Amino acid sequence: MSSNLASKLRVGTKKAHTMAENVGFVKCFLKGVVEKNSYRKLVGNFYFIYSAMEEELAKHHNHPIVSKINFTELYRKQSLEQDLAFYYGANWREQVQLSSAGEAYVKRIREISEQEPELLIAHSYTRYLGDLSGGQILKGIAETAMNLNDGGTAFYEFADISDEKAFKVKYRAALDEMPLDEATCDRIVNEANDAFGANMKMFQELEGNLIKAIGVMLYNTLTRRRSRGSTELATAE
Ligand code: HEM
Repeated sequence: MSSNLASKLRVGTKKAHTMAENVGFVKCFLKGVVEKNSYRKLVGNFYFIYSAMEEELAKHHNHPIVSKINFTELYRKQSLEQDLAFYYGANWREQVQLSSAGEAYVKRIREISEQEPELLIAHSYTRYLGDLSGGQILKGIAETAMNLNDGGTAFYEFADISDEKAFKVKYRAALDEMPLDEATCDRIVNEANDAFGANMKMFQELEGNLIKAIGVMLYNTLTRRRSRGSTELATAE
């Protein structure tokens, strides 16, 4: 019996995916506008989110359904630790902070793990399939935009997955093979839409940071130009 959960998730989150792609922060990222401080905040949030998700997935490693998608080769906690050490330095643990949208995201993961663990499937799907899908493109953009050449992109590298496309096929097959009734599938799709929403809220928070950073940069450029201009004027007089 196939639950068709893979296509239910794909179809059921299509609109949310388009909306997430259209959040300013994501659009800027795709255009190569990536500001290091905003980006490292995102990496910091991801650290708390993936740590919570992976801890809760591991707790349910014997769960009849959740265990089917608990692929440890997807786990991102360690790669995020590497990236945080790169962006913040060795004492990153003292600096990294969880934003309020990130806090709500983590809280939800903990809550469902306790009350409805099968909904963890929605969170795994939303993050990991997304990472496997757009990861390589995003890695290239991050490298170019932030002039990275010796680190900072471990998050996008799945060392234990040699063929990401083939892995996604395997992941989707695992979703389809889950013996789930219609109502449970619906709850998982709803939760995946909420997970997309949680990601969007986090991106929107960062958009504020990014706009501020661009404003400061612009202000500095303009004031530098103006002061250079006045020197030139003074010289001319
Ligand atoms: C940066 C903008 C984004 C781009 C350009 C992008 C691009 C893509 C592409 C091309 C696919 C299709 C891959 C395939 O058919 O195998 C995909 C799938 C996916 N993306 Fe994104 N994506 C973006 C943002 C996001 C975000 C923000 C999330 C969630 C937080 C996300 C989650 C997913 C998921 C779950 C899938 C798998 C869909 C499925 O096959 O069921 N994506 N993405």
